[in-house]
Amino acid sequence: MNVSVIKTLDNSYDTRVIGLFEKETVSFNDKKLEESINYLVNEGEFKGKFGEIESIILPINEKPNKFIFIGLGERDKFADEKLRKIVAKIVNEGNKIKSKCILIEPMGVNDCITLENATRIIAQIPLLVDYKFDKYQKVKKESTVSEIKILCKNEKDLEIMRSASKEGSILAKETVFARDLVNEPANALLPVELANRAKEAGDKYGFDVEIYDEEEIKELNMQAYMEVAKASDNPPRLIVMRYWGDAENKENIIGIAGKGITYDSGGLCIKTKAGMVNMKADMGGAAALLGAMSSIAELKVKANVVGVIAACENMISGKGYRTGDIIGSMAGKTIFVGSTDAEGRLTLVDAIHYLIEKENATKIFDIATLTGGAVAALGKAATPVMSNDDEFFNNIQRASDISGEKIWRMPCFDEYKESIKSYVADLTNSGGHPQVMTAGVFIEEFVQDKPWIHIDIAATSWADKKYEYGVKGGTGVGVRTLYHVVKNLSNK
Ligand code: BES
Ligand code: MN
Ligand code: ZN
Repeated sequence: MNVSVIKTLDNSYDTRVIGLFEKETVSFNDKKLEESINYLVNEGEFKGKFGEIESIILPINEKPNKFIFIGLGERDKFADEKLRKIVAKIVNEGNKIKSKCILIEPMGVNDCITLENATRIIAQIPLLVDYKFDKYQKVKKESTVSEIKILCKNEKDLEIMRSASKEGSILAKETVFARDLVNEPANALLPVELANRAKEAGDKYGFDVEIYDEEEIKELNMQAYMEVAKASDNPPRLIVMRYWGDAENKENIIGIAGKGITYDSGGLCIKTKAGMVNMKADMGGAAALLGAMSSIAELKVKANVVGVIAACENMISGKGYRTGDIIGSMAGKTIFVGSTDAEGRLTLVDAIHYLIEKENATKIFDIATLTGGAVAALGKAATPVMSNDDEFFNNIQRASDISGEKIWRMPCFDEYKESIKSYVADLTNSGGHPQVMTAGVFIEEFVQDKPWIHIDIAATSWADKKYEYGVKGGTGVGVRTLYHVVKNLSNK
C-alpha cells in the first residue's frame, strides 16, 4: 500500500471519496460536482447516515472516474474510532469496484478530530484492512487498491500531514510485521528464528540486537527462564535489543519485556486440544515489542529503549520442570511451580530482572499473552493493564487514546498477593483468581522500585474471526500503543 499526501487534485487517482455528514450539504471548487451532490442530498438519495455507502462510475475527461460516497453520521458525534471504521469501509468498497488509487481527504477535522490524527488514521487503516496471511496457500485473494492519496487543502498543513502520514504508514507496516510473526506457525518460528527476525529488523532500522544462547543464558543465572525452556529440544534465545535515540540521557532508559513463548503446550499441566491449537501465538508480546522497536527506530524517537525477549518453547519431556518443583530465579527469589502452564510470568520476571540489573532500565513495561483470564475480564474489547504508578500509567492511557487500542486499568490490590504466597518457597506461580491480577502482582514482585506497566494481551492479540481492520489470526495489538507511549515519554 502506497500512501502519499498531495496538494492538488491531479488525475493520478481513479477513485475519489466524498464524505457526507448527516443533514449537511457539501462545497467543492468544482461547482458542477458540488451541485450534483447537493442535489442528491436534497432529494434524500443520500442521507449521510454513519456507514452509508454508495459508489458510482462516471465518464469524466474520457476516462472512468469512480466516486465513493460515504455517510459520516452526525458531525458532533464523529471521532477517531468512527474515522477508522469509515476508512475500512472505503477500502473494502474500493476493492469491490476495482479501484486502484483512492483519493481521501481528512474528514471531520477541527470538529472532533485533529488533522494529525485523521491523517495518521487514513494512512494506517488501508494496510491493516488489506492484510492477509496467505504465504502457505496456493489460492491467494487479490485486492486491487494499492494506493491511497490524502488531499491537503492548505499549504500550511502540508508538513503536519506528511509527517502524520509517514508515521501512520510505518506503524501499519510494523503492525503487519507483528501479525506475520504471530501467524507464523511454531514449526517455522522457533526461538532461533524469532531471534533472526529481530536481528534483521535491527539491521534494517538501526537498533542493536544481541542474541544470547543457552549457555550464555545459564551464565546470566536466568534460572526461572531456563526451567521453562529446558523441556524443549529447540534451544532458547535471549534477544536483547538496544536503541539509543537519546544517548546523552542514558540515566533514562525504558525497558520493555515481551513474552516470547513460541509455543505453549502447557508443559506437564498440558493444555486441551482446543486450548493448544493457537498457542503458536504465545509470542504476541514479543511480536508487539519487535514492531514497536522497529517503529521507534525508524521514526527516530528521542528516547532510549531496551527490549528483551526471553524466547523459548514450553514443551513436555523428561527433561522438563514439574508441578511441585521449587525453582530459582535471576533475582534470587525461589518459586514453587504451581503450574507448568503459568510459564510466561517465569520468563518475564527474569527478563525484567535482567533489564534492571544488566541494562540499567529505569522504567519497566511488560507485554504478554499472559492469562486466559484476560478474556474473562474484558473480552476482546480491551487490554487489561496494571501499574504501580498513577502518573506513569497516564502515559499509556494517552497512547491508547491515540492508537485506538483500548486498555482498561486493573488494580494491584494487596488481596491478590495472597495467591502468590507459597508454603515452601518465596512465591508460587500457580494461578489464583482473578488470573490477570494474580499474574500481574507476581510480576510486580520483580520490578523493585521502578515505575512499571503490565500489559496482558492474551485476549486482544488474537482475533477468532474477521473484524473491521483485519482477519482471523494475530492482530498486531501493542505495536502502536507501545510506540506512542515511548513517544509520550520521549525528549521531544
Ligand atoms: N499462554 C497462556 C495464556 C493464554 C491463554 C494466551 C489463552 C492466549 C489465549 C498462558 O501461558 C497460560 O497458560 N496461562 C494460564 C494461567 C494459569 C495456569 C494460571 C491460563 O490462561 O489458564
Ligand atoms: Mn501457559
Ligand atoms: Zn503461555
